[in-house]
Amino acid sequence: MGHLLYIQASPRVGRSHSIVVADAFIDAYRQSQPGDLVRTINIFKARIPAFDGPALQAKYDILHGRSRDPATVKAWGRIESVIGQFKWADKYVFAVPMWNFGIPYRLKQYLDVIIQPGYTFTVTDNGYQGLVTGRPAVVIYARGGRYQAGSAAEAYDLQSRYLELALRFIGFSQIHSIFVEPTLASGPEAAKAAQEQAIAEARQLAVGF
Ligand SMILES: Cc1cc2nc3c(=O)[nH]c(=O)nc-3n(C[C@H](O)[C@H](O)[C@H](O)COP(=O)(O)O)c2cc1C
Repeated sequence: MGHLLYIQASPRVGRSHSIVVADAFIDAYRQSQPGDLVRTINIFKARIPAFDGPALQAKYDILHGRSRDPATVKAWGRIESVIGQFKWADKYVFAVPMWNFGIPYRLKQYLDVIIQPGYTFTVTDNGYQGLVTGRPAVVIYARGGRYQAGSAAEAYDLQSRYLELALRFIGFSQIHSIFVEPTLASGPEAAKAAQEQAIAEARQLAVGF
């Protein structure tokens, strides 16, 4: 039985372009693989621990093999629990808005929590090695403007570039990207057309995913 984790990184549930497209993917996936488990997290609603003083202290205590006090043990337990939930899956779907050319801060916080040495990557004689391997991912990116490959605006797209880099860093190698754009810049008709095209792509990709 497959385990699919669906991570929503937009707080605009019901109005979010990336979530509407990702939901279409999930509907088609459920029809295609009815026996699989799908778990959904909206990272604006989920409890994601702050990566602050005690968590950082725990991280460095582990790195340096130092003993830890109760506060840091507790903080690290919360980090491990989120990493465990993330690694539960063998397939991933991300719905991701562009915010200020990058990703929403809650998704960055989530990545800062789950990207940990010994859990999602390790360091070898040959450099970094991701530990989340052999698992396909689909990322649906929504953005108000257009950032097409080869255009002058492409350089501003730190949303897909950063997320792709972070996912590859922790071991993902099969990453399918679907872009919904422009959701604002060219008016509602263009947004609707972009969303419909992305939904068709998503439905096609979901079959047998
Ligand atoms: C805080 C914030 C920052 C944004 N920054 C950008 C941006 O830098 N470039 C852009 O093209 N659109 C930007 N947008 C527009 C969103 O990318 C667009 O509304 C997209 O559809 C959001 O994804 P969603 O519909 O899944 O929530 C921004 C929107 C918000 C709320």
